[in-house]
Amino acid sequence: MSSDAPTDVQRITAIIKQRQTFKVLASLPSSETTAQSLTEVQHAAADAQVVQAIRDAGWAPFHYDRAAGGMAEPWRVEWVPRAMCREVAAHFFDWFDDVKPSNKLPSMLNACGSLVLVSWLPQFASEDSAADSPSEKQRQIDEEHLAATSAYVQNLMLILTAHGFGTYWSSGGQFRSEKMRRKLGVDHDGRLLAAVFVDYQVERDSVERLPGKLRERRSPGQQWFKSMDHPRV
Ligand SMILES: Cc1cc2nc3c(=O)[nH]c(=O)nc-3n(C[C@H](O)[C@H](O)[C@H](O)COP(=O)(O)O)c2cc1C
Repeated sequence: MSSDAPTDVQRITAIIKQRQTFKVLASLPSSETTAQSLTEVQHAAADAQVVQAIRDAGWAPFHYDRAAGGMAEPWRVEWVPRAMCREVAAHFFDWFDDVKPSNKLPSMLNACGSLVLVSWLPQFASEDSAADSPSEKQRQIDEEHLAATSAYVQNLMLILTAHGFGTYWSSGGQFRSEKMRRKLGVDHDGRLLAAVFVDYQVERDSVERLPGKLRERRSPGQQWFKSMDHPRV
């Protein structure tokens, strides 16, 4: 290897900076808008990379054994392939007749290559207001289940970015609802943390790519960072 090849540190730092939110919108399913879509073989190869990324992202750290369903991990992940995304888009306004016509989820479902739903499994927090409120220790454990799942999501997005996919971490909107969970067949009680829309970067007509609102708001000179020296004695 030549000495000017990038180091692992340079490579991973470049990928971290390269990851960027792009909300990708298409009013119609890609096959109806496209001149240059991926062949089925190319699409299947891209799907395989996404599925492998979902598995590899599972090397995220986690502090506590969540011990649910015989698994230690505090996250659960569903992969929604393109055809299912398009079906959900087609039914969306029938299933959710109370949402605004401007709701962007159908357009995103029509544009994406596939979608990854990442949920975390609260252990003590309960939606039931009559339930005992969790102790400080229990709250901390739940926070750490959530934190670990967040690390999972970032791992996933970095691997996808390294492959050249676009990513968009959405809070999920209607994907958080019980109705959507039933429609998709989600079979756990997790809380959705991220609906990651994966852009297979096909150049198409009538597709819009919008950057994240806060991308340019990062603090100059890392104002959130402070270098410490000695404790007060
Ligand atoms: C927990 C979480 C939830 C997010 N949910 C949304 C969302 O629902 N809609 C949205 O437009 N962006 C969402 N984002 C993406 C942010 O808008 C984006 O990260 C931010 O604008 C910075 O841009 P960048 O990711 O390109 O650096 C979310 C990000 C995080 C970490």
